[in-house]
Amino acid sequence: MDTLKRKSYKIGNNHSPVYISEDSAAFVKTWRHHIGSHKTRNVFVLLDENVEKSCPDILNLFFNEVNSKLYVKRMSGGEKLKTWNHASEICDELSALKADRSWVMVSIGGGTLSDLVGFTASIYKRGISCVFLPTSLMAMIDASIGGKNALNQGILKNQIGTYYFSEFIFVYPPFLQSLDKSELKSGYAELIKHALLHSSKSLWNKVLKQGIGVLPDMKMLADAIRVKMKIVQQDPFEKHQRLFLNFGHSFGHAIESYYNDSGQRITHGEAVAMGMQFALFLSAELELIRVEAANGFQMYIHKEFPFPKNLKFNDFLPYLHHDKKILHGKHRIILFKGFGHFTVEYLDIKKLEETYDLFIKGIA
Ligand SMILES: NC(=O)c1ccc[n+]([C@@H]2O[C@H](COP(=O)([O-])OP(=O)(O)OC[C@H]3O[C@@H](n4cnc5c(N)ncnc54)[C@H](O)[C@@H]3O)[C@@H](O)[C@H]2O)c1
Repeated sequence: MDTLKRKSYKIGNNHSPVYISEDSAAFVKTWRHHIGSHKTRNVFVLLDENVEKSCPDILNLFFNEVNSKLYVKRMSGGEKLKTWNHASEICDELSALKADRSWVMVSIGGGTLSDLVGFTASIYKRGISCVFLPTSLMAMIDASIGGKNALNQGILKNQIGTYYFSEFIFVYPPFLQSLDKSELKSGYAELIKHALLHSSKSLWNKVLKQGIGVLPDMKMLADAIRVKMKIVQQDPFEKHQRLFLNFGHSFGHAIESYYNDSGQRITHGEAVAMGMQFALFLSAELELIRVEAANGFQMYIHKEFPFPKNLKFNDFLPYLHHDKKILHGKHRIILFKGFGHFTVEYLDIKKLEETYDLFIKGIA
């Protein structure tokens, strides 16, 4: 079937499913199925300005045949979106419009916008419907899926958030054509993580064969999304398996906060890729996976996302102390045992620091 190049995919059951289609008309059908066609269901669209610049007709493309009244707020994408102030500003605007619980919020943008919209939709009047139209690779295969959202607390990543599922997610791959190369690469970091979470090597091999500079095809998007959906369906509130989706993220978030705090912007994906490299090394050190195997994965990621030789453990330690996965003062670190096999280890800072020193010596 896949060799015949499918035109569309539906992933998941009727609870927050993902649709992938290159036909924007399919969006209206999906909208009618999940939201209905009541004229009185007003829609509050949050639109990433960069997306609109590259696709000026975007609102017509998706909403021309949606019968609702549309209110549009344009915002500039990026980490700075994920603040209390923005969430509060949106709630104020919804209040001023006398928006009630029949309203639907829509995010058209990357992962920062879907995090902000998901969070705000979850708190306004204790929850109104939301729909995601992800426009970056990161948002298509990861951020818009699975019902987690987050705001940053100052420089600290994702400290405030809720679990709140969108009505549906509509992935329209042509959006990727206008995405900056570095942002495409950023999305590939999470795609690589999904490839490691896949129980077979197929997605990993495909990434290796194709490289990460090219646009993923629909099947690759679908495969990566399925990996996340499957885990989320098994464990929506992160009691166990869902933790594995955080592979590389404890270090990644801390590294991202460190660089952003010191004015050197790096993408979320670059930070996660760095975090995964150290997590792979740690997995081998703890004898969860053979050193040669871990090296192979790490080398590939390092080639695409070079780990900075001069990054010291103490640089990102202050941010690591705020990792959401810390329990009773111990760091819960996700480690790799093989394709689709992960584990959670409780480790103290001393162990992490000693291992990091060995890791960075290897990089140098
Ligand atoms: N909630 C979750 O489960 C989850 C999972 C993974 C990542 N995230 C979050 O997602 C965020 C990163 O998402 P992101 O990488 O999409 O960042 P982003 O939203 O900042 O988008 C990256 C940049 O690309 C621009 N852009 C987006 N789509 C475009 C398009 N089609 N054409 C041109 N420009 C476009 C944006 O304006 C922005 O400048 C992080 O804050 C991360 O914490 C959340």
